[in-house]
Parts: sequence; structure tokens; C-alpha cells
Amino acid sequence: MAERLLEIRDLHVAVGETEIIRGIDLTVDRGTVHALMGPNGSGKSTLSLALMGHPKYTVTQGDILYKGRSIKDLGPDERSLLGMFLGFQYPSAIPGVSVANFLRNALMARHKGGPPLTPAAFKKLLDDAIRRLKMDPAVLGRYVNDGFSGGEKKRLEILQALVLQPELEILDETDSGLDIDALRIIAEGINAQRGPERAIVLITHYQRILNYLRPDVVHVMVRGKIVKQGGPELAQELEAKGYDPLIKELVEA
Ligand SMILES: Nc1ncnc2c1ncn2[C@@H]1O[C@H](COP(=O)(O)OP(=O)(O)OP(=O)(O)O)[C@@H](O)[C@H]1O
Ligand SMILES: [Mg+2]
Repeated sequence: MAERLLEIRDLHVAVGETEIIRGIDLTVDRGTVHALMGPNGSGKSTLSLALMGHPKYTVTQGDILYKGRSIKDLGPDERSLLGMFLGFQYPSAIPGVSVANFLRNALMARHKGGPPLTPAAFKKLLDDAIRRLKMDPAVLGRYVNDGFSGGEKKRLEILQALVLQPELEILDETDSGLDIDALRIIAEGINAQRGPERAIVLITHYQRILNYLRPDVVHVMVRGKIVKQGGPELAQELEAKGYDPLIKELVEA
């Protein structure tokens, strides 16, 4: 049987006094790819940030189990060291820290206590990822996301994932704002990471990237809850009809 990597149980998340995630159950097994869709403001990014332990988002009820253990009380760094990764919808700039240094530090933290990462091995990892994503190697010397275009920021999120090799990879709208070639390159980059050890959760508004990725499960979130689940055909249905029929169904139920 596939190993359960993530199990979200009756999760409620608030920002200040406002409850945004209102009871979510979701399980993600190793080796699977999930798409999370839903109208603007339905809580997709909030869920992803809460999963990573962003301090602004308070879990008010329920639990998050990762590899069978509750991570609700762990900070973002600890979750990251356990193998969780979030590609942000709005990646932040880190002026003063070069991409190469940022990645080296993140990778060294992961290797702590294990075999040391040689400079040659690090360089090869970076070079391979840069080549795969058809990025300009000059990006490694630039400050993280500083002055990057929208599409360049998204590419850098995937570069981080390729280098860090997380076990649970959550990607928040990594396909938005990409040109047609970049979309294909990014999709190929994500596909290259598929494997029996890893799970990928892609938050997206568009069917297009799903044509490349073929998710195992599509979840639809509306107003802080997952209201529908299905296969890739569900994304096609939404693309064709929009969210209105689904929302109408919910109101009438
Ligand atoms: N820090 C915050 N302070 C106040 N409200 C917030 C905060 N974070 C999220 N919200 C609110 O929670 C709701 C869900 O936001 P979220 O960003 O999770 O939506 P989303 O599904 O990712 O939308 P989109 O598709 O537009 O990215 C929105 O109404 C948003 O304004
Ligand atoms: Mg969002």
C-alpha cells in the first residue's frame, strides 16, 4: 500500500479572528500528484501557508500529520528540514543574499549530521537544475528574487525544489504568469520530480498545466472547504463551465 505522507484532519485556520480554513480533510500519499483548484479567495494559499507553519495563520482546530506525526507545533524551518517545501504564489525578494548562497545554506542545513556536501556535488546539482529549467546561470549570482520578473520568480521556485528535493512539494500557482514556453519547461521540471518517494500538490487556476502533469486527484476548494474531488476530468469540467454550477449546487444542498 502507498505510504501516507500528509494527513490533514478537520483543519481550521484563522487569521486574527477570521476563520479562513473551515474544516479540511485531505490525505496525500507518496508517489501521487494532487491539484488544488478553487475561486479567488477560497483559501488555497492560506492552506499552503498554514501547512508550512506561517506564524500569521493559527490552527484553531484539527491537526496536520506529516509522516504520521503531528507537525502543528513545529516552526517553518523544522517542517522544511522534515522534507516539506512550498513554492510561493508571491515569492519574496531577499536583497543581499545571492541565489547560490541561499541554496547552499538551505542544502547544508539538510545535510547536517549526514554526509557532507562537496562543492563539486553542489555545483553539479545547481548546473543540472539550471540547465533543465533553461535558466541563465547568471541568476545564481543575483540576489534572491530581487528585480526578477514574475515568470523568473516562478522559475526560481522550481529551481529551489529541484535542488532541495523535498518529499512533499506544494506549489502555489507556479504556472501563473508564465509564457507558453516557460509553462512547458516548468511542467517538465515538475514532472521530472515525480517519483515513488515524493508527493506534489499543485495549486492552480488553469487546466493547461494539468494537461502536462495529469494529476491523480483534483480537489476543489470553496470558502475554506474542499467541496469536490475527482480525477483530471474535474479540472476539464471546471474549465468548461466555471465554478458557478458547483457553487449553485452547494447553496441548494
Ligand atoms: N493575512 C491575512 N489577513 C487578512 N485576510 C487574509 C490574510 N490571508 C488571507 N486572508 C483572506 O483569506 C481569504 C483566502 O485567501 P487566500 O489567499 O488563501 O485565497 P486563494 O484561494 O489563495 O486565492 P487566489 O486564487 O486569489 O490566490 C481571502 O479572503 C483573504 O483576503
Ligand atoms: Mg492564492
